[in-house]
Amino acid sequence: MLPYTEAANPITADIDISNPKEIVKKLEECDKEMFSPKGLDKEKTLFSEDILRAMVKVAEVAKKLIFQSDSGKSLIIMSGCGTSGRIAFMMARTFNRFLKLTEKKFAYTIAGGDQALFTSQEAPEDDRETGKNDLIKACEGRSQILYIGITCGLSAPYVAGQLNHCMENPEKFTPVLLGFNPVRLARDLPIYGWQKTFLKVAQELELLSEDDKAFLINPVVMGEAVTGSSRMKGGSMTKIILETIFLLSTAASDFSISECKKILKLYEETCKLFYESASNAVSSWMSWTAHSFNADGHLYYVGSNGAGVLGIIDATECPPTYGATLDDVRGFICGGYPEYENNEGDLGQLGENYRINSDDLAELLGRGPDAVKHDTLIIVAVGLTDPVLKELQENKKLGSSIKNVAGKDVAEKMKVGVVLLLEKDAQLPELPSFLSEIFVIRLPISDEVTPNTACSFLTSTGAERLKKSLFECCAKWFYNGTSTGAHVRKGKVYKNFMVDLKVSNQKLFHRSIGIIKRFSPGISEDEARNFLLRSIYEVDDVDMTLSSSSILTHIMAAAPKDKVVPTAIVMANRKCSFQESQRALSQFRIIRDALQKLTQIK
Ligand code: F6P
Repeated sequence: MLPYTEAANPITADIDISNPKEIVKKLEECDKEMFSPKGLDKEKTLFSEDILRAMVKVAEVAKKLIFQSDSGKSLIIMSGCGTSGRIAFMMARTFNRFLKLTEKKFAYTIAGGDQALFTSQEAPEDDRETGKNDLIKACEGRSQILYIGITCGLSAPYVAGQLNHCMENPEKFTPVLLGFNPVRLARDLPIYGWQKTFLKVAQELELLSEDDKAFLINPVVMGEAVTGSSRMKGGSMTKIILETIFLLSTAASDFSISECKKILKLYEETCKLFYESASNAVSSWMSWTAHSFNADGHLYYVGSNGAGVLGIIDATECPPTYGATLDDVRGFICGGYPEYENNEGDLGQLGENYRINSDDLAELLGRGPDAVKHDTLIIVAVGLTDPVLKELQENKKLGSSIKNVAGKDVAEKMKVGVVLLLEKDAQLPELPSFLSEIFVIRLPISDEVTPNTACSFLTSTGAERLKKSLFECCAKWFYNGTSTGAHVRKGKVYKNFMVDLKVSNQKLFHRSIGIIKRFSPGISEDEARNFLLRSIYEVDDVDMTLSSSSILTHIMAAAPKDKVVPTAIVMANRKCSFQESQRALSQFRIIRDALQKLTQIK
C-alpha cells in the first residue's frame, strides 16, 4: 500500500481540467480532511484519543522546559526538510516572540541550513549524518531537550538521523515524531551508509512511546490535493498541531485532552469559515495569477509578521513543486531579515532571491509600470495595526512604489489586491484608491468560538496568540490556493500529479518511478525504473553499469535536468527512443497538453 502522503486524492482527480471555482471547492474538500477524513475507521486521525493524548503529553513536557528555572539548560527544538523545516522555523520564531524570554527556548534546524528557507534544497534531505550533526550543534550547552522531528511522509533520513541520536541519548532528549502516515507505512528503503531505515527508527520510537519516553503524533490527513505536495495539508497540519501544543503548554490552568480538542476545533471552524467567505477571492486571484504566468509575469506577496513569513514560504515551494523559476513567485516581509529572525541572519548577499524586505519589493516595482504590468501583487494584512497597512496608508516607500504601477486595467497595469484579515467587529480601514481589489476575511464566526470564550483556560496573551495563528492559517490557505490553482491553470499538473518534478532526492526518485508506471499502461515497476534511467542518462539502453549504480549517482545525474519524467513517460507510451521523445515534447509549451496528446492515458 502507498503511504497516505504519496497517494493520489480522488477529490482532485480532475483538478487539471477544472475551472477556478471548482479548483477552490476541491481544495476546500481536501483541507477539511485534515479534521475529519472519511472512511478511515482503522487509522489514527486528528481527533483520535491516541493523538490527542500524545499532544497533551508533549505539551506537559514543553511546559516543564519552558517554565522551570534551569539557567538556560532546556530547549525545544523542531526540525525537518523543505516545508516541514520551514514550519519548524516559523514555530520557533513565533513562540520565542510570544514568550519574550531572555534566553530563547525554541530553536529549529532545517536540511540545507537557512538557504533552504528561501530556495529549495532537496538533496540534504537524504543526509542523516548531517541531520545528527546539525542537531548536536543546535543543542550545544543544553541538557534537557524536547526534540520534534517533522516529516510528513515519515521518510526523511535527515530527521531519522536526529531521532536516532535522541533515542541513543535518552538522558538528554525526549524525541517526538510528527508526520501523517501510520508507522507501518513509514519508508522502508535503505538510507545511505546506514543499516537502519526510517521504518526501523519509527518502530523503535513507537516502542519507547509505550512508556512515554518518546511520542508519536501521526494522524492520517489523506492524500494532498496535488499528489505528494505536503506543503499544503502537511504544512498546515504541522502548524496547527505545534501551535496547539505550545499554547496548551503556556495555558493559565491545567489542561487535558478536552482543552486540546477545544483549540483544534477552533482551527476546524476557521477552515470552514475561510472557505465559506474566501472562495470567490481565491478563485479570482488564481485566475489573475494564471493570467500573469501565461504572460510571463510574476506573482508577489507582501505582508508582516507571520503572514509575511508564510508568503515567503509559499513562494519558496513553487520551484520544487511546479518547476517554477525562482522569480515566478516571490514573497516579501515588512522589516526584512531583522523581522525574519532566522539563525543565519541576512542572506541577501547570496542573490536577488534572498532579498525579502518589502523595500526590496519597492525597488523591484520601481522599474516602472511597463516592467511589471503583467505581474500580480497580493498584500496580506492581519488586523488594523499591521505594518503593511501603514506602508500603504502613509504612502511610504512600498506604498508609493505601488501607487506608480497599480491599476484596474489588467492588460496595462499591475494587478494589486489587499487581503484584510480582521476581527468580526473591526472597522474597515481607509485604503488608497489605487488598490483595485480589497478583500476582507472576518473571524470568528460567532461569539461562542472566539479564543477568549472557547479557550478560557488560555492566558489572555495566549488567546491573542491563538487568534493570530488562526488568521495566519487563513493567509496560508489563501497563498496555497492561489499559487496551486494558478500553476494548475497554467497546465503544470496532469490529472492531480505534478509530472514535471525534479528528480533531486531519494523520495522524488521513487515518486518519479511511481508516476511513470501510473501513466504508462501495462508496464512493471522495473520497466518504469528503466525508462527513468534512460531518460536521466539520455540513452536507449540501460547497461549493467548504469542499472547497478547507486540511487545517489542517478539523482546527481538527474537533478540539473528538465523534463526527465515527462520524457520517460512519452518513451514508455510510444515505445520510442529518447531523441524521439524529446522531439515530440518540444512541440508543446504546456506539459499537460503534451502528455494528453502523446500518451494513451484517458
Ligand atoms: O523532497 C521534497 C519535499 O517533498 C518538499 O517539497 C517537502 O516539503 C519536503 O520534501 C519534506 O517532506 P517530508 O515532510 O515528508 O519529510
